[in-house]
Amino acid sequence: MYYPDELVEEVRMKNDIVDVISGYVRLQKKGANHFGLCPFHNEKSPSFSVSGSKQMYYCFGCGAGGNVFTFVMNYENYTFAEAVKLLADRAGVNLPEMEYTEEMKKKEGHRSRLLEVNKEAATYFFYQLRSPRGEAGYRYLTGRGLSKETMKKFGLGFAHVSGNDLVQYLRSKGYKDQLIQEAGLAGFDEKHGMHDKFWNRVMFPIQDINHRVIGFGGRVMGDAKPKYLNSPETMIFDKSRNLYGLNFARTSRQNNVILCEGYMDVIAMHQAGFTQAAASLGTAFTSGQANLLKRYVKEVLLAYDSDGAGVKAALRAIGILKETGLSGRVISLEPYKDPDEFIKNLGTEAFQERIRQAENSFFFELRILERDYDLKDPESKTRFHREIAKKLCGFPEEVERENYMQAVAERYHIGFENLRKLTASYAAQTGLVSPVARPKSGLAQKRNTPEENRKKMQRLLITWITEEPGIYPKIAKYITPEDFTEPLYRKVADRLFDGLSKGEYQPAAMISMFADEEEQREAAALFNTKLTELETRQEREKALHDIVYTVKKNSYEYYSERMGAEVNAINQVIAGKKALEELSKTHISLDEG
Ligand code: GTP
Ligand code: MN
Repeated sequence: MYYPDELVEEVRMKNDIVDVISGYVRLQKKGANHFGLCPFHNEKSPSFSVSGSKQMYYCFGCGAGGNVFTFVMNYENYTFAEAVKLLADRAGVNLPEMEYTEEMKKKEGHRSRLLEVNKEAATYFFYQLRSPRGEAGYRYLTGRGLSKETMKKFGLGFAHVSGNDLVQYLRSKGYKDQLIQEAGLAGFDEKHGMHDKFWNRVMFPIQDINHRVIGFGGRVMGDAKPKYLNSPETMIFDKSRNLYGLNFARTSRQNNVILCEGYMDVIAMHQAGFTQAAASLGTAFTSGQANLLKRYVKEVLLAYDSDGAGVKAALRAIGILKETGLSGRVISLEPYKDPDEFIKNLGTEAFQERIRQAENSFFFELRILERDYDLKDPESKTRFHREIAKKLCGFPEEVERENYMQAVAERYHIGFENLRKLTASYAAQTGLVSPVARPKSGLAQKRNTPEENRKKMQRLLITWITEEPGIYPKIAKYITPEDFTEPLYRKVADRLFDGLSKGEYQPAAMISMFADEEEQREAAALFNTKLTELETRQEREKALHDIVYTVKKNSYEYYSERMGAEVNAINQVIAGKKALEELSKTHISLDEG
């Protein structure tokens, strides 16, 4: 970050979050907070809350959250610096020109250096493509039907034939070999020294949701193998948590995302006006990606290749979508292989029609399944019906299951009652039972992993302190920032406790400590964990005591395991033991004063 912290803080304080967000989202005051429809996912009833006192927003539906900077970054697809600029202008704060001095570069984290070297490489490839040396690449892409604007929108580039152009260019810009290598832009061997990873390929920069280049895909221009070469995973490039094209797709204001298999498919779709298209990154679709999509849409349309491999990949993806709670439909591209070819041959309107006709993912699964059976043979047909019944058990909600049963019975001419009986018998066998009602206790947990529970308790405590800073003095003798064993929570707790001990309380300022959007989101969630409504003071005191005790106990165990390995562990263990003993005898009073 290139602006001084105090200036960033001044900009933040001069932009009331309720005012700013009201400019984008219709908000209604309800109690202490304002509520509206979340702009980051598709919803019908408002779960997006904005708190004037905390100067933060949080969506209970999709988990989006942060301070006023985070909001502008997310909504406008801005970088942090751009968001600061917009809000400074809005409040009439003068910002100094940003200067990238050597010292600042050194100060920056490793992440931003990786981002920077990727951006520099993307710029380099971009200009190569448009220079005489990039002619072959330009011809190739034009030949595939891409317009100049499309190439520009996706930042397409070209890597020249010669061995280490990029390395030399990056060195001339002051980047160290080690960084270039770590970014996956070059390899090293004894014989050739540093050499470019990508050469003689058209280059597809891969961007994260904030348009930052995090890696590359490079395609050969002919039939050589491998067809695509992709950047390796790095600190900034997690293939399971990014999607190609999502930086554009998420603001397309459609209520679905069209998931394709290839980069070229995404680009062709966008060019044809389907700006909600995205693709995984040369690897299978993952649940991390599904969760990312869930922030923005409820429905995913699969536009996978129509060949055997594509069908298999679609079936896998359907499973993942279901687990994530996204509904899926499958677009048929027959008789063409992929969306790119389809659009080239039949055009936009035909594709639009295919979207309309997209098949419910469950029926798609059944249709594929059906191929393995001979429905003229009673034996085989029966087995098919059994498989259907088994699959129907996959709908945990009764109404939904009933609806599907009805539809399936009709479609495959099975007696409804027979199908229902068959399904019920499988449900009993596989232990599908309606979910048990959860007890109404502040600490009642879903069956989470111990790790998740540990984090949850730490989050609950931080939220509680931010909602009621008055409890700080009562718990300060038991809990220190070190008890927050999750590194990000620890960072927040350090700052929060430090502020509270001086009588300051600015939770929103803490969000700006995190440069990364994921971290900002997680930090915001920290302040907004749902506290169960507890009625009486007694209940509240008991809950607070339990939370404090659990956090301390977890921390005690955490440091016990690390004795000998961490310098500070022994002190934490001693202090932890003492606090736990004391806590088991005392009760935390929520009396005033
Ligand atoms: P075109 O053949 O240029 O139309 O590309 P495409 O995007 O249609 O590619 P295809 O459907 O063959 O593959 C889908 C995606 O899988 C690509 O976009 C790449 O991300 C990835 N992929 C394809 N071939 C390779 C390969 O040889 N190596 C790696 N690592 N990834 C590949
Ligand atoms: Mn293709």
